[in-house]
Amino acid sequence: MSKIGVLFVCLGNICRSPLAEGIFRDKVRAAGLEDRFEIDSCGTSAFHIGEQPDPRSRANAEANGVYLDHQARQFVGADFSDFDYILPMDSSNYRNVMRLEPVNAHGKIVLMREFDDMAKGADVPDPYYGGERGFQNVFDILDRSTEALLKTIRTEKGV
Ligand code: 4NP
Repeated sequence: MSKIGVLFVCLGNICRSPLAEGIFRDKVRAAGLEDRFEIDSCGTSAFHIGEQPDPRSRANAEANGVYLDHQARQFVGADFSDFDYILPMDSSNYRNVMRLEPVNAHGKIVLMREFDDMAKGADVPDPYYGGERGFQNVFDILDRSTEALLKTIRTEKGV
């Protein structure tokens, strides 16, 4: 049975999308579904390729019980066929992805916060230039959004 591919996308791949990846991975594991999923994250920019998540992101995630280990990479065209769900963190990265979308794209491209009932379709704010509270705000947003995302995928894919 082929795996369900889920790809989280932000700009640098060091703050928001590796956090979304880590939180979602833990939820999938807690549901006993880790064998059914291929989970990854990437950035639309090349700014931080090869880097681990921002130390502030890692510290905040760990304070919330989530351990992050990811090497930043840039979004590539093959991601359209390798992943079933592509989740840009904000409208700017959504546009960046859509600009590259081939006509035969296989992945479903949906803004992350389409899954956030508290602010449907809003941007996940970029915490890079802000303080610690920004990181906790992003954590809370992604915790809610990835919970609803997993629920939706389980319904759509029957897992
Ligand atoms: P991210 O945050 O897209 O959530 O990883 C950013 C990281 C780095 C930069 C911008 C946003 N930057 O300009 O270097």
